[in-house]
Amino acid sequence: MTKAEEILGHMKLEEKAALSIGATAWTTTSIDRLGLPVLTMSDGPHGVRKTPEAGSMQIEALPATCFPTASCMSATWDVESVREMGRAIAEEAIALGVDVVLGPGVNMKRTPLCGRNFEYFSEDPFLAGELGVAWIDGIQSLGVGASLKHFAANNQETRRMTVSSEVDERTLREIYLPAFEAAVTRARPWTVMCCYNRVNGTYGSENRHLLTEILRDEWGFDGVTVSDWGAVHDRPKALAAGLELEMPGPRPRRAKHVVDAVGSGSLDETALDRAALRIIRTALHAAEAPKGAPFDAKAHHALARRIAARGMVLLKNDGILPLRAGGRIAVIGHAAEEAHFQGGGSSHMTTTQVDVPIEALKGLAGNAAVTYAEGYPADETARPDLIAAAVADARAADVALLYVALPTYKENEGSDRADLDLTAQQIKLIQAVTAAQPRSVVVLFNGSAVAMSEWIDGPAAVLEAWMAGQASGGAVADVLFGVVNPSGKLAETFPLRLEDTPAYLNHPGEEDRVRYGEGLFIGYRWYDATRKRVLFPFGFGLSYTTFAYGQPRVSAAEFDDTAGVTVSVDVTNTGSVAGDEIVQVYVHDRIAGLVRPEKELKGFARVHLEPGETRAVSIPLGFRAFAFFHPGHGRWVTEDGEFDLLVAASSADIRGAATVTLRSTADLPTLLTVASPPADWLADKRGRPLAAALIRELVPALKPVMGNQLEEGANGLDPVLPDFLLYMPLRDLLEFAAAVGGPDPDAIVARLETALAAS
Ligand code: BGC
Repeated sequence: MTKAEEILGHMKLEEKAALSIGATAWTTTSIDRLGLPVLTMSDGPHGVRKTPEAGSMQIEALPATCFPTASCMSATWDVESVREMGRAIAEEAIALGVDVVLGPGVNMKRTPLCGRNFEYFSEDPFLAGELGVAWIDGIQSLGVGASLKHFAANNQETRRMTVSSEVDERTLREIYLPAFEAAVTRARPWTVMCCYNRVNGTYGSENRHLLTEILRDEWGFDGVTVSDWGAVHDRPKALAAGLELEMPGPRPRRAKHVVDAVGSGSLDETALDRAALRIIRTALHAAEAPKGAPFDAKAHHALARRIAARGMVLLKNDGILPLRAGGRIAVIGHAAEEAHFQGGGSSHMTTTQVDVPIEALKGLAGNAAVTYAEGYPADETARPDLIAAAVADARAADVALLYVALPTYKENEGSDRADLDLTAQQIKLIQAVTAAQPRSVVVLFNGSAVAMSEWIDGPAAVLEAWMAGQASGGAVADVLFGVVNPSGKLAETFPLRLEDTPAYLNHPGEEDRVRYGEGLFIGYRWYDATRKRVLFPFGFGLSYTTFAYGQPRVSAAEFDDTAGVTVSVDVTNTGSVAGDEIVQVYVHDRIAGLVRPEKELKGFARVHLEPGETRAVSIPLGFRAFAFFHPGHGRWVTEDGEFDLLVAASSADIRGAATVTLRSTADLPTLLTVASPPADWLADKRGRPLAAALIRELVPALKPVMGNQLEEGANGLDPVLPDFLLYMPLRDLLEFAAAVGGPDPDAIVARLETALAAS
């Protein structure tokens, strides 16, 4: 018997019920008599937000490093950096006495309007999954737990506690769940946090399909499921569905509901026992990790700066960047004095220190004369005077640097953005300054895509700096002056207009239902399929150097799906400075039984290259790189056939392709019935011979009435049915044939069913 089982064995029903609900805002119940320790949780995800008192929901927290938010981290495409950051966060959690950090957030960026996109990685499930795995690996390697959130289909903030995400099973499996699946099966997070919203009508906290059937039974999750803070509505129902820990607490009335439900028999006590056992196990496990050792705040600030610089994306550059030290620099924009480096809401941190962007810039600008103009106020007020002053500074300078931050009131946890635009004042400011000074650089601070059509032609360069943590000011200076060669690439598409975005007609929904009408087609999948032009494509980012790609090579031209294949390519730095390139591999299925996106990201690698250096990059592609979720079979399947492996510098910049042939090893049961049309029978491996023989058998009866509508098949043997017969339920075709002298339908149905069962 394990220690956890022993503790459970000594617990009263009331104690187990109390343990299934937090003791305070951030902790679970401890029981001294049994040696059960407390488990302490804190937000997440880009640093530790530990409140001074365990019970408090206050925003002000103990100082800790605010690392780059997911908006920036994801653009690094760098699992090593993310892992390193995870380890650093774990060190801070240990110092602050935190057992579980509430992150990472691997929800998909379904729409750029989601107010919480800055906490999420990507519009692509594969990329989000790889980064989520790295984050969890990093933090848990030091004995601190992660809480993977928000499970699942939590893709908007509007009415987030009541709205139902209406999403079909295939889309759920292929788009909204894979990042969770990768994280759970590969990184084994200690806890998984359910979402506030409903999924297909059922709250995340009561969703048995998600919490039990998929998470536990399919993916083998053996940690604790925890509610988002306040996501539980009916405690016994949530327990029965597989939600083990309700947060926050205490909620004695809820505990009583659990006791009563067990008493009345409406809740099986084994569900409560399972929940309690998992919580006890996790609390005991957490207690093994030593706590209290201080962390190195300076080193972590430096790490935050390095990672921030790696995630910044150079969107436009006519050659003005990197800047040279000296001369006259006009720094413009409120965000140059007051850094905008994190978002509002539960992830909001109290920092150890914050770089003042303009000071960091001066640190690298040598003897340059640097002026400052505010440019725009912190709110929406129109201030032509600020624009006039900024223009005057810009005119008098050799270069103007505009630091433009999307205000927190526009992009925040708890609500969605209304549009993709900067503020009216900011747009006017950029237009006026760039008209007066063509040598202008716009640096953007925001958590997700913004529209730029109104001003993008003005500046000579645009740097997307995201919400990049407390050291972002230094990181921007590093990139502007070329101390760091920018290498980040977009983890989300930047559209031209809101109207072009995939969820435009289905966000934020109506009457508390949001229909995921675009299905599989979010992000670049949508822009590929609809051939819509975008501002900047997924995977895009410039560098101060250039890279050439060789011809892709494959480990096998033909392979079994279970074996997979590896694609390799030589990448050369053809410029004069060192840099990192992010190589992407997309898979295109040439012919598929179900509708599939034109291409999907299935592998990537980040490679560092000195000038002139060439390296071979190898990217393995396994079963899932080729499979799709078949809703009929309820599982991932592959089909025989040809696939193009597209080696790319961005989703819109394919540098080479190799075609491979996959052999599917699946032996799937047939889904045919006598209600399926002959067309489906002919397309099915098992049905085809039966249907072909049957059609030949029906021809003598059909021929006199159908005449030449019954064409000879291509091989001259199989008669081809006209579409109206081909797409009739098979048993109706039999009735039709019987009416004109064909064989007895009942006998044939019985024969076909027997043959199918035996095949
Ligand atoms: C957020 C979670 C967060 C929790 C605790 C909720 O409002 O959705 O992401 O971890 O609060 O602060």
